[in-house]
Amino acid sequence: MQLRYLGHSCFEIVHKNNKILIDPFLALVPNYNPEGVTHIFVTHGHGDHLGNAIEISKQTGASITAVFELANYCSSKGVSAQGISLGAWIDFSFGKVIAVPAFHSSSTPDGVYAGCPCGFVFNIDGKILYHAGDTCLNSEMKIIGDLYEPDISCLPVGGCYTMDIEHAVIASEWLKTSMVIPMHYNTFEAIKIDITDFERQIREKGKMPMIMSVGEFLGG
Ligand code: NI
Ligand code: MN
Repeated sequence: MQLRYLGHSCFEIVHKNNKILIDPFLALVPNYNPEGVTHIFVTHGHGDHLGNAIEISKQTGASITAVFELANYCSSKGVSAQGISLGAWIDFSFGKVIAVPAFHSSSTPDGVYAGCPCGFVFNIDGKILYHAGDTCLNSEMKIIGDLYEPDISCLPVGGCYTMDIEHAVIASEWLKTSMVIPMHYNTFEAIKIDITDFERQIREKGKMPMIMSVGEFLGG
């Protein structure tokens, strides 16, 4: 499996014939070519996460997976969407995914209620990847740690709307994760941080911080 950071909270996962986008806000990669995208996952309705999901789905035919109300909203825009809720593994051609709690809010850019926000745990060939979405630190992360011990955790660190560095470092311990990729920072003024603080503190916990630049690939 190959992971690529597309900026903010957006990641692309390529595994065999699958190309998965999570929170496809592509403002930071205006030349990104979505050709071949097979699956889109959206954690909540805010514009910096729903992003370009609907146009990419229209362009590629990729189905959008999101919490029921958000999926219905996407369907109402004429694209294929699978509504899910928290708490059960769902099978896909690349592996399985479970939606987990995120503590935040969720409405679409035009003000439609979009259900509860979520994070996603992916199991792809036994490799566990957790994408937290937008959330504060919360004790559900201890459960995710107990049950799944993610190999890779993508955690928001920018503060203001989500966890800040201090809480993301605590989250990394609760999650029993080995590698942390910070996200949701420095995109806007309100979430500007010094990422080297995060890098140092995660290292001090004996974990691997993976600071990815926009467009960078991880793995092969
Ligand atoms: Ni949000
Ligand atoms: Mn956000």
